Amino acid sequence: MPGYNHLFIPGPTNIPEQVRQAMNLPMEDMRSPRYPELTLPLFADVRRVFKNQNGRVFIYPSSGTGAWEAAMTNVLSPGDNVLMSRFGQFSHLWVDMAERLGFVVDCLDMEWGTGVPIELYAERLAADKEHKIKAVFVTHNETATGVTSDVAAVRAALDACGHPALLFVDGVSSIGSIEFRQDEWGVDCAVSGSQKGFMLPAGLGFLSVSQKALEAAKISRHVRCYFSFEDMIKTNDTGYFPYTPPTQLLRGLRASLDLIFEEGLDSIFARHHRLANGVRAAVSAWGLRLCATEPKWHSDTVSAIRLPEGIDGAEVIRHAYRTYNTSLGSGLSQVAGKVFRIGHLGSLNEVMVLGALSAAELTLLDCGVKIEPGSGVGAAIERFRSAATTPAAKAA
Ligand SMILES: Cc1ncc(COP(=O)(O)O)c(C=O)c1O
Repeated sequence: MPGYNHLFIPGPTNIPEQVRQAMNLPMEDMRSPRYPELTLPLFADVRRVFKNQNGRVFIYPSSGTGAWEAAMTNVLSPGDNVLMSRFGQFSHLWVDMAERLGFVVDCLDMEWGTGVPIELYAERLAADKEHKIKAVFVTHNETATGVTSDVAAVRAALDACGHPALLFVDGVSSIGSIEFRQDEWGVDCAVSGSQKGFMLPAGLGFLSVSQKALEAAKISRHVRCYFSFEDMIKTNDTGYFPYTPPTQLLRGLRASLDLIFEEGLDSIFARHHRLANGVRAAVSAWGLRLCATEPKWHSDTVSAIRLPEGIDGAEVIRHAYRTYNTSLGSGLSQVAGKVFRIGHLGSLNEVMVLGALSAAELTLLDCGVKIEPGSGVGAAIERFRSAATTPAAKAA
């Protein structure tokens, strides 16, 4: 099919040309005396993205799932009680991993389309006078349903009853894309991956930890080997890795961090908010609903859009791909066939989002959804114009 594939899934996201070029280089020696010139600033700069000044970061040659496992096996011990909640496919997978790794999971099952139940967490923590709960888990941005949860409120719930549990956050589709403040929110283990806000291929798992988590790791009784903090610390401190690092990805990370700091984290968050608002305006102009049940759950990085009864979401995704060379995100697990998703994070702008919305409109119309042609795109254009930040756009 002519033209390139339009990628609007919520990760992997589009890779900027500078980042792609930065990864196109001859293989280099990962034990050379100059290698730390690449790696040491990377460790420092990834911490800047997480807003972690006091702890340290581990960069694993894995996807985000590996960083989840690293967090749990280094910091907790088998049989530890943990408090989790499930309201989408990724929070489900995290619960599943915790159970398989031998933790005693108190999982609060919530309606898909909602997020972390702050009041229920607060109740559970206040009732746990003996401090049996060792860690509390938050899926910051549930990518399957387009729901963002309030990490700061979970920290406040812990503090309100003086509970010492560690706070674990899955920020795979949030960190670097929407507000995240590790130190301020007292997050002990924050996980992310390279293929979303960091605008890279999959293959780097980031785990940013607090001093408290590092202390907990010293007494953890869990078996770990490849993901061992100790092994990583021994070599990372001098700029090396305990195994062969993925050099091309690290070179790409250098370029992506440069782009992130050049634009500025606050500007990136504002851009994602603007773009998400455009998508949300389109969804309501189509007369459709988001999977997120209330505005307080709205995600600025991904929107999951409910389809009318009788419309097969899998066919919508297939049709967009085959007919318009456009990749939209499919519904996963409980919402498979019922929603389609638009990823609006990473390296993208208003025109790209309008492209996604055009493809979605064409596809929805072809699939028999009764929407007014141009209504969603028009609503998004109106929203973008009212949010325009440049004087020329404002004056026009
Ligand atoms: C919120 C969330 N957590 C975890 C994961 C798993 O990450 P990975 O696929 O990089 O292992 C994903 C992947 O999309 C995700 O969106």
